[in-house]
Amino acid sequence: SAPLKKLNDGTQIPQLGLGVFQMDDDEAHRATLAAFEAGYRHVDTAAIYRNEVGVGRAIAESGLARDEIFVTTKLWNKAQGRDNAREGITRSLEKLGLDHVDLYLIHWPCPAAGTYVETWEQMIDFRSEGLTRSIGVSNFLPEHLDTILDETGITPSVNQIELHPTFQPDDLLNHCSDLGVVIESWSPLGQASDLEHPEILRIAEATGATPAQVIIRWHLGRGFVTIPKSTNPERIRANFEALNVTLNSEQMEAIDGISAGNRIGPDPATVEP
Ligand code: A2P
Repeated sequence: SAPLKKLNDGTQIPQLGLGVFQMDDDEAHRATLAAFEAGYRHVDTAAIYRNEVGVGRAIAESGLARDEIFVTTKLWNKAQGRDNAREGITRSLEKLGLDHVDLYLIHWPCPAAGTYVETWEQMIDFRSEGLTRSIGVSNFLPEHLDTILDETGITPSVNQIELHPTFQPDDLLNHCSDLGVVIESWSPLGQASDLEHPEILRIAEATGATPAQVIIRWHLGRGFVTIPKSTNPERIRANFEALNVTLNSEQMEAIDGISAGNRIGPDPATVEP
């Protein structure tokens, strides 16, 4: 099973999970079941993915106890604010068929909307009420983290950000590390674009692991929580086997060195509801 990482509120998160971005309900249902069979105990969805129903069906059918699995979902941008956020989590829980999630995230800061602080205050309430065990953010830049910390005194447990070998935002990583915020990497494989990088291929060759396993192992070695996405049961299984791969320090450092500012998603400063 995946190693557990302790969050700043004492909750433990499995360091490797399944991401279900860009899957419909049926694909997410199949992928989540395949992941549970392969040994995953952590699944990461979001209201905007529109597949919480599929994920929830897989959870119900898995036969796994609720406290054996770790479920993350995210509040969509349009649902930010004092009045809307509660409806956001209520709908997500209904769709998932759960009475609580393990981690609830603000999906994007949307700084121009000016609502992320009041949304964070709501998140703090949701945790107190037991609707979620942990709370965090996604796509927050250092200034957004500092603002919610200054305004509320409560540090997010995680910041889930775009992070893969050719996109390593070092200032943000260092800032999160200073604050004790665990990093979760989304698109850990660079949406497959990093799989053919010559250094990744070289290390795959040397270790006998696949390029995806090499990259996943690198995330784990760096201490990140990571959520590679696949719809394919074989690749879902193979990605989990990254837990059995070993990289030496030369190989880890070689991957540290291929960062190239190769952002795939939007710049968080510019995303608006
Ligand atoms: P597929 O769903 O067909 O497996 P990321 O997690 O960085 O967003 O990357 C997801 C993309 O990487 C998907 O297109 C997925 O395709 C592909 N992918 C996931 N695992 C592997 C793997 N082990 N080998 C090759 N491609 C993979």
